[in-house]
Amino acid sequence: MKVHILGSAAGGGFPQWNCNCANCRGFREGRIRAQARTQSSICVSADGERWLLFNASPDIRAQLASFAPLQPARKDRDTGIHAIVLMDAQIDHTTGLLMLREGLPMDVYTTAPVHDDLSSGFPLFTMLKKWNGGPRHHEVPIDGSSFTIPGMETLKISAFPLDSNAPPYSPRRGNPMPGDNIGIFIEDTQTGGKLFYAPGLGIIEEHLLPWMAKADCLLVDGTLWTDDEMIRLGLSQSTGQMMGHLSQSGDGGMLEVLAGYPGKRKILIHINNTNPILNEDSEQRAIVESQGVEVSFDGMEFDL
Ligand code: MLT
Ligand code: MN
Ligand code: ZN
Repeated sequence: MKVHILGSAAGGGFPQWNCNCANCRGFREGRIRAQARTQSSICVSADGERWLLFNASPDIRAQLASFAPLQPARKDRDTGIHAIVLMDAQIDHTTGLLMLREGLPMDVYTTAPVHDDLSSGFPLFTMLKKWNGGPRHHEVPIDGSSFTIPGMETLKISAFPLDSNAPPYSPRRGNPMPGDNIGIFIEDTQTGGKLFYAPGLGIIEEHLLPWMAKADCLLVDGTLWTDDEMIRLGLSQSTGQMMGHLSQSGDGGMLEVLAGYPGKRKILIHINNTNPILNEDSEQRAIVESQGVEVSFDGMEFDL
C-alpha cells in the first residue's frame, strides 16, 4: 500500500496564524530551518487510484491540490478520494468535510461517539444532509474485528479505542468513552505491509501492544516534546496528557515506547507548532533522529 502524508501538523498547523512562539515566528522570519505543515491527515491506497482518506482537515483544499492522484480527472466532476475514515471528532480532523460538500454523497466511516459529536455539538452530518443527502455514514467497529471498504477489499482494516480525549466542544471532554479516539491497523493483503496509525494517543494501553508488535510501520502521535510545553511557553493551560497526547521526551514518553520496537519504521505525525523537533537544527530533532525515529512532513510518501 502507498501511504501519503497530506498534513503532518497538529491543530493550528505550522506556523499557526496567531502564534509567535520560537518556531512560528522563527519560521516566518526565516531564522530557523523548518518546513511549513498543514493539519493532520493521511491517505492510503492499494492501487494508487482509489485513496482512503484518514481525517478531513481544515486544510484539505491545499492538500488535495498538493497531491495529483486525488484529482484523476476521469469525468467532469471527479476525485481520487474513495472513502473517508475519521479518527476522532476534533476540529482539525473533521472540518474538511465542509469543503467536500460539492462532492457529496461520500462514504464516511466513524465510530458511534464520533458520529454523535458530529451530529450534535459540531453537527456536520446534520448540516451536510442538504448536499445530496450528505455523507453516507458507516459505523467503525472498535472490538478489534476487521472490516474492508467496498472497492478496496485488499486493505484489511481494524480499529481500536485509544485513551486520548474527546474534542473541547464535546460533552465527553475530560471523560472520553471508547471510540472517541481510535487507532487504525491496516494490512495490505497483497503485499503483506502493515501500518499502525494513531495520531491522537495519550496512553499506550495493553490492548495496543499486539497491534504495534505486528506492524511494519508505527505512525504515531508527535504532538509535543514535553508534557507541559504549552504551559511553560505561556500559550495554554493544558498539559499534553489533559489534551490526550503522549509527549516524546521523559520517562514513559513516546521515544521510550518506540525504542521497544527495533527494526520497525517509526514516524511522528500530528506535530504541534511549539514542538522543538520542527526546528531541523534543534537538539531535540537530533535526539529523535538518533533513535531512528522520523518526523513526518507534508508530501512524505512510502510503500508498505
Ligand atoms: C487536539 O489534537 O488535541 C485537538 O485537535 C486540539 C484542538 O482542537 O485545537
Ligand atoms: Mn488535533
Ligand atoms: Zn507556534
